[in-house]
Amino acid sequence: LAPTPKTAEDRVTGKTNQEWWPDRLDLTALRRNEQRSNPYQNFDYAAEFSKLDLTAVKADIAKLLTTSQPWWPADYGTYAPFFIRMTWHNAGTYRAADGRGGEDGAQQRFEPLSSWPDNANLDKARRLLWPIKQKYGRALSWGDLIVLTGNVALEQMGFKVIGFGGGRRDDWAAEEMFWGPEREMLTVARYDKDGKLIEPLANSTQGLIYVNPEGHMKDHDPVHAIDDIRQTFSNMGMDDRETALLIAGGHTIGKAHSAHDQKTCQGKEPAAADMASQGLGWHSTCATGVGKDAITSPLEGAWSQDPTHFTNNYNENLLKYNWVKTKSPGGGTQWEPDDKRAQNLVPDAFDKTKRHAPMMMTTDVSLKLDPAWLATIERYRAHPDQFKSEFGDVWFKLTHRDLGPKSRYLGNEVPAQDFIWQDPVPAAPTKTLSTSDVADLGRQIMASGLTVPQLVRTAWAAAASFRNTDWRGGANGGRLALAPERTWAVNDPQELAVVLPKLEAIRDQYNGRHRDRPVSLADLIVLGGSVAVEKAAADAGTPVKIPFMAGRTDASQEQTDVKSFNYLEPKADGFRNYYLPGQRLTAPEAMVDKASTLGLTTSEMTVLIGGMRALNANAGGSSAGVLTTRPGLLTNDFFVNLLDMNTAWAPMDATNTRFVGKDRNGGQIRWYATPVDLSFGYTSELRAVSEVYATRGSQQQFVNDFAAAWTKVMNADRF
Ligand code: HEM
Repeated sequence: LAPTPKTAEDRVTGKTNQEWWPDRLDLTALRRNEQRSNPYQNFDYAAEFSKLDLTAVKADIAKLLTTSQPWWPADYGTYAPFFIRMTWHNAGTYRAADGRGGEDGAQQRFEPLSSWPDNANLDKARRLLWPIKQKYGRALSWGDLIVLTGNVALEQMGFKVIGFGGGRRDDWAAEEMFWGPEREMLTVARYDKDGKLIEPLANSTQGLIYVNPEGHMKDHDPVHAIDDIRQTFSNMGMDDRETALLIAGGHTIGKAHSAHDQKTCQGKEPAAADMASQGLGWHSTCATGVGKDAITSPLEGAWSQDPTHFTNNYNENLLKYNWVKTKSPGGGTQWEPDDKRAQNLVPDAFDKTKRHAPMMMTTDVSLKLDPAWLATIERYRAHPDQFKSEFGDVWFKLTHRDLGPKSRYLGNEVPAQDFIWQDPVPAAPTKTLSTSDVADLGRQIMASGLTVPQLVRTAWAAAASFRNTDWRGGANGGRLALAPERTWAVNDPQELAVVLPKLEAIRDQYNGRHRDRPVSLADLIVLGGSVAVEKAAADAGTPVKIPFMAGRTDASQEQTDVKSFNYLEPKADGFRNYYLPGQRLTAPEAMVDKASTLGLTTSEMTVLIGGMRALNANAGGSSAGVLTTRPGLLTNDFFVNLLDMNTAWAPMDATNTRFVGKDRNGGQIRWYATPVDLSFGYTSELRAVSEVYATRGSQQQFVNDFAAAWTKVMNADRF
């Protein structure tokens, strides 16, 4: 027997497939959608959550906040500011471009986030909370607990939050996603030649939630940091006012920790620490290592003379003093007032006899040097009531914006007010369509002259705008008929101008006769797609029934934030064979990415692609990948013809973006295809699934599986 390896270097390991062949299509993102490894199988979180007594949970949290533990003593006798930082860091990974990150799922518990330098010591925060998580168990997810704790912490500091919505379900595995191109923590290679962060990133540096507190690449220049802060917060979906507000509100409480030299004292992050540490990291070897000796960041000190209450002190101090550079005990560069009278303003976190000068980070000073932010901070200094009420709203947005529409919120603390960032939709009518109404409407749609491909494309355009990363988009709201969705190139505005008026006419006529149970355009768009698929399956000789779930409503243009919806515009949609060049992801990678945000597995993605090609549902009427002589019928022809050894494929030019399939014997052109199409014959796992659908006798299974996957996408936003 070989001896147990002592170090990582001693271990005998092998390369993964992805390491051997980095260009191979990575299907990892789809494996997360396989529910088999989820320990919460068939679990109804809403039902469990409804049994919670939120008041009792909050009382438990409140008690915990002021019960200092010797293994991680609380500053000023309260963990409240520390927990706010935890809540903010869990929210702050959210990025508007792809909806990933954020509170939902509580990815802060997993690598890489659990071990990002910026999350230093938040392992302790979550461990302090473990007794509460253990007590309420499956009825209270980590994501909900983290947000609720932030709220209770704010309330304990004299702040009135506007409410709480539960409903964040726990992830049970690390989400492998693109966090930036860098190979080392705290390095920066994510800006394009124009100085813009590459999509979909929001943070400025690998391993930081937002920006470097010491300025761009630690250059200690508050003016230079302005652009980093603005881009970062904007990519998180926050405007100028909200950016200044969040930073000021967050830093009017608590303190930074850098009692000793970070480089020599701070131990390894949790994922690299030893096994006995049991998931804790950043163990400090200098002095006691905790409390007054704690090291979290390179910076030390508090911003306010009353760091355990939500006051206006941050705004007042920032504006009142002239700030000059100084060094922290940990070796970082920070700022202090040049006014000696401020020297004893701030209490010490542990020793009542000691006082300190307030501090600012380079990025705090930036708020004073940008005209828009300066005006905001000046307004808050003059109107503390506005500071409080606006911070309440932005805190709610920060912590709830990745939870999706309000219909997903759980509990009795949900604010009555609607916010535009929640993508509001009108309430569903109390009476829903009867089975015969649905059948009648389906017949009318099929008699309207609209074709199967038109109806399929339209339903797909609406429903597949959904993304399960932040639960935005989808058919509900009927926003396909509104700006901006109606104008997106992938949705073919000219075709929509033909299809939507016909569906609207059917809706208006029906609603004139059935005022008690009106139908929405959103429902008709989905129904149209489903009856079209049923017709295509029946015409192929393998009928199938697509279940239809009514109850969607139509939003108004006023309820639609055009700028924020533009983040949902697909630059690629492999299902409609659509791809705009110049993206970070190749077309097949973008297909996998889209499938993953639709909650699809590898087989579901495969069967949908094959079916959509057979249905002739490409964007812009392209014939690429339509590997059938019977377009518009729901057949497995795509798979049969793709795997047909009588066809030889070749790129049409050096760009490798279009391929031609010719008869091996005669040389006649048979088909055209894109890289997305060919990946189903090229990528071994996709080929394996394609074979299942290409074998003789598989047509019925293909149709059934397509119908199930189609229904999943159509109902993705029916929560
Ligand atoms: C503490 C950076 C925005 C809330 C800190 C610390 C750093 C930092 C370096 C010190 C950590 C430590 O040593 O313990 C930044 C930067 C920001 C930013 C660069 C953006 C430009 C925010 C926001 C919030 C927030 C938006 C909340 C809304 C806090 C709190 C603390 C803190 C409450 C004190 C934690 C404690 O007392 O343990 N921040 N932060 N920060 N931050 Fe921020």
